[in-house]
Amino acid sequence: MNSASLGLDEVASSYVELQLLGWLKSLLGYPADSSGLLLSGGSMANLVGLAVARTHAAPYDVRDQGVNVSDHPRLMYYMSSEGHSSLRKAIELLGLGSASLRIVPVKDDFTIEVDALREAIGDDRDAGRLPACIIATAGTVNTGAIDPLNELADIAQEEKPVDACRCSVRRIREDVSAIRTSRRRSRARRFTRLRFAQVAIRPV
Ligand SMILES: Cc1ncc(COP(=O)(O)O)c(C=O)c1O
Repeated sequence: MNSASLGLDEVASSYVELQLLGWLKSLLGYPADSSGLLLSGGSMANLVGLAVARTHAAPYDVRDQGVNVSDHPRLMYYMSSEGHSSLRKAIELLGLGSASLRIVPVKDDFTIEVDALREAIGDDRDAGRLPACIIATAGTVNTGAIDPLNELADIAQEEKPVDACRCSVRRIREDVSAIRTSRRRSRARRFTRLRFAQVAIRPV
């Protein structure tokens, strides 16, 4: 949306974007100086969120060198089997390779099985891989299941530098308390007010 990249930074769309991001940051309790951008949809927001996680977790300058699994451990991402298909595509587009994605089973309520997640992270560490990102979904596309955001944030904190990197919010009004509870516990998150706004926001 923002055409500032064309050198036109005094255009209405820039102000609309900044205003909307300001409202969203305040709604989610983010610091006023956190950054964000509007994107064309959930898939693009996922791509940006996972790129943030990649840059943050890689023990080298991945933006400069590109993904390097020859000299460095493979970065690992975790999501439940109910995670959206765009996440796998994003991981492939980011050059991580789908071998970097672990699909974790879900419980009867379609939320991620936390014990299985812990086990997968442990296995990867033992095998010399680097857990980089837990992808939590707050409102899966199939059933609206909300992963236990706080439990996942706890694991992310214990497992540094694992980072709970994003959550998908399909119904802000209903879910905002869950998101607020987990605010500041993630590097980047993307959320959707149905089709109204697709946004990636990164707290500073
Ligand atoms: C949880 C989740 N992630 C990603 C997407 C993809 O969004 P889009 O179709 O806007 O790219 C959807 C779409 O329904 C979704 O529900």
